[in-house]
Amino acid sequence: MADRNHPSAKPAARTVLNLGNLPPKKQGFGNAGQYPRTPSRVDPNNPPWPAYRGYHEYSFAHETMGKRLPTILGKAVDDVVKTLNEQYEEEKIVDLAECIERMQTLMNDLNTNAKLRPIIDDGEGDIPLWNKEIAKFFRGKDFMNAPWLFAEAYKYRRLHECFSISKYWKDYDVFFRQKCDTFSRSSTAVFELSTRFAEPFVYEEGANEDEKLKARKLLFHELTQVCLWGNATDLSLLINMTEEDIKNLQSTGGEHLAATEKNILGNHLDRIWKLVSTMKNGRIDFVLDNAGFELYCDCVYADWLVQAGIASEIHFHGKRFAWFVSDVTRKDWDWLLNSMVYGSLFPHGTDAELNSVKQMGLRWKEYEKKGQWVYEQHPFWCTGYTFWSISTEAPDLFLHLADSDLVMFKGDLNHRKLTYDCQAPSDTPFDMAIGPLASEDGAPPVVSLRTIKSDVVVGVPGEVSQRLDNEEPGWRISGKYAVVLLSDGLKGRPVKFDG
Ligand code: F6P
Ligand code: MG
Repeated sequence: MADRNHPSAKPAARTVLNLGNLPPKKQGFGNAGQYPRTPSRVDPNNPPWPAYRGYHEYSFAHETMGKRLPTILGKAVDDVVKTLNEQYEEEKIVDLAECIERMQTLMNDLNTNAKLRPIIDDGEGDIPLWNKEIAKFFRGKDFMNAPWLFAEAYKYRRLHECFSISKYWKDYDVFFRQKCDTFSRSSTAVFELSTRFAEPFVYEEGANEDEKLKARKLLFHELTQVCLWGNATDLSLLINMTEEDIKNLQSTGGEHLAATEKNILGNHLDRIWKLVSTMKNGRIDFVLDNAGFELYCDCVYADWLVQAGIASEIHFHGKRFAWFVSDVTRKDWDWLLNSMVYGSLFPHGTDAELNSVKQMGLRWKEYEKKGQWVYEQHPFWCTGYTFWSISTEAPDLFLHLADSDLVMFKGDLNHRKLTYDCQAPSDTPFDMAIGPLASEDGAPPVVSLRTIKSDVVVGVPGEVSQRLDNEEPGWRISGKYAVVLLSDGLKGRPVKFDG
């Protein structure tokens, strides 16, 4: 009978064989650990290149999840308390106090790094998308170990839930006051543009076709930059902006633009003009970013595109509820147009300045009435999905965008969603970084106008990002640099959906 306790029963020591004649070991089986992941292995928890996650101390994800989001939420609570103190009806007061309690639970979840739970069904169209994504990819994940993009979007959806399940405060926007207030303090830059663009656009007298084309090209370059740098005023980074900060961020004069063009590290402006200059009465879509001054710049740009005969139809895509602090909602859109026409936002403006704002506002409202400008708010824009998933998760939206001649995505968050917010090498070509939105049949031409405010950078030569990493370690989050990138897409090919 074998004795298991006898020393001879101990497993043999490791036997080292000399296998010098076998073939050498190979690496990378099944592509494991290799990037970019093949498209079939990409999913919301596994982007093409490694995701940024809150626990990555070297990334802006860490700072945002650990500090910025609790600060933003704390300020949001202050805003609601202010509203609460202005109420007099008991039922509404009690209802709002419950919203505040839910915000405090959310704050606690953030501070204790709780697991991500499903969103409570509040009847919104995005609920199936949210809860499917959580169930499929983020079960058991928490705020810090889920990819940053998803965790941050989830926080804003949870913030909306604090109100959407209430009786009286379903559409309450905790950032509305802040958005209006910042625009009202932007008079210098607002007048700078309104006094130039209120009068309908005309060419110089006697200009021939060649000169007209040249004039259009120059204006296109400058206005695209006005629209680009308008993105520098996002409120989620500038929690306590002074009058001076606002002015510096909003200088729209020629000299400033020439200086800042040097800071566009990936610059496809000429290619974009080549495309736009062939358009006549086309359709251009703006996937909007921030309300107030940025939206105002977007509208000045869109106004010119219409007047120059480039587009006869502009679609503006906004958010259904308060999102990443300053993003445009329907209420922000209406507020801007109506306060330009009827409001008294700028008490120190001259009559001429005030009239110029009003004149422009009236024209914009007319565009809207005639259907030349259309404001839309598809639920997909407020989900945690990146734009790699538009055709699978929102095929109706993909088809709609496929009809556009050019889709302009504004800002940092849209850029993160275009590129899957992952650690792609900076010299990754833009059309490769945006995946299906460039390569699927029917994909429209896509432009990203983004001031760089977070880690992901594509379309920028390796030596440039390397030098900046060494010399200016804060360059990826400062908003001082930008990219203007184009993907030509495959417009015209019939859209096909699998299955
Ligand atoms: O906090 C994340 C973030 O995407 C930052 O990268 C950026 O500063 C901000 O939110 C939103 O910026 P934008 O308004 O330009 O999308
Ligand atoms: Mg924004």
